[in-house]
Amino acid sequence: MKKRILLSPPNMAGTEINYIKEAFETNWIAPVGPHINAFEEEFSSYLKIQDTAMTNSGTAAIHLALQLLNIQEGDIVLCQSFTFVATVNPVLYQKATPVFIDSEEDTWNMSPLALEDALVELKKQNKLPKAIIVVHLYGQSAKMDEIMKLANDYNIPVIEDAAEALGSEYKGRKLGTIGQYGIFSFNGNKIITTSGGGALVSNDSESIKKARYLGSQAKMPKPYYYHKDIGYNYQISNLLAGIGRGQLKVLEKRVLEKQSIYHKYEKHLDNHPDVTLMPEFAETKSNRWLTTLLVEGVEPLSIVKKLEESNIEARLLWKPLHTQPLFKNAPFYKHPLTNDNSVAEMLFNKGLCLPSGTDMSDEEMEYVVKKLIHALG
Ligand SMILES: Cc1ncc(COP(=O)(O)O)c(C=O)c1O
Repeated sequence: MKKRILLSPPNMAGTEINYIKEAFETNWIAPVGPHINAFEEEFSSYLKIQDTAMTNSGTAAIHLALQLLNIQEGDIVLCQSFTFVATVNPVLYQKATPVFIDSEEDTWNMSPLALEDALVELKKQNKLPKAIIVVHLYGQSAKMDEIMKLANDYNIPVIEDAAEALGSEYKGRKLGTIGQYGIFSFNGNKIITTSGGGALVSNDSESIKKARYLGSQAKMPKPYYYHKDIGYNYQISNLLAGIGRGQLKVLEKRVLEKQSIYHKYEKHLDNHPDVTLMPEFAETKSNRWLTTLLVEGVEPLSIVKKLEESNIEARLLWKPLHTQPLFKNAPFYKHPLTNDNSVAEMLFNKGLCLPSGTDMSDEEMEYVVKKLIHALG
């Protein structure tokens, strides 16, 4: 196959260009403008949440959430270890201390049992965390009832990193709307994209107003430039918000397409003894952002390399953050019900992501499956 088959390339609906044209015609080529306001309203209405602040990345949205929670130097933030580094970098921007929580096999996300162990232990040490960042990886929901119960019992706010989970649900509620704050990413590889961008959402409209203020250099409402807080340049551009408006219109269609890709892989790989696809936890709906699987008896990296030889992009799963040099001194709470070193490490050692582009043809999919089965031996 000559054309490279990518993991999750952008897929434009075609209408995005009309919004860009409108921005050109009205000269709203700026980090403010009508597309931003409209995108914020349309996004809030899709999620059934009070308010959204659009940002220039998901990472910026996490950073703003930490600012709103007043996370400061030395504060402890409980973070999922099995995730992309962008979830936790903003904790470091604040000079706060990440403490890592393992995943569980059911969801691959934060283990409520390990979370409880951490809370009991930290309470004993009089070092209760100031926030919990839970991640919904690859579109799969974490066990939100259990996590929210613990968070409420200990009175700790929850940030949901739903960067990969736009359109996914937990018991009928959209992911990202259950904790105090939710964040999303519109990076080029996400289910819908603005090339780069993000969103911070909450039912607390006052705090979203504050996030807009902090994210636009914290300018006080005066006739001259006057500042009392540290501000950031985290606004999305009106042009990119236009792309987002066009993309949002096809989000539900993209979710169905991603799910269909997953089901096709499932059908093709159903009887393979060495393959287990990522589970979908009961009463949740995954957007299946990427189809991911665990393999037995063969190194995932060797599969990634073999697929690469056929011009197919596959990737390993996230390398757990508690095993990264950047976080070498950070504490880690392991899932108690595992015989492995940790569930996060087991997932990294066995897992990979397959091409899951919503414009992938059946022919391309069959080609990937053929090469994958060959690589599996
Ligand atoms: C789990 C997770 N969190 C955060 C981010 C950060 O989003 P962004 O790239 O828009 O800053 C990403 C994606 O890149 C992600 O996958």
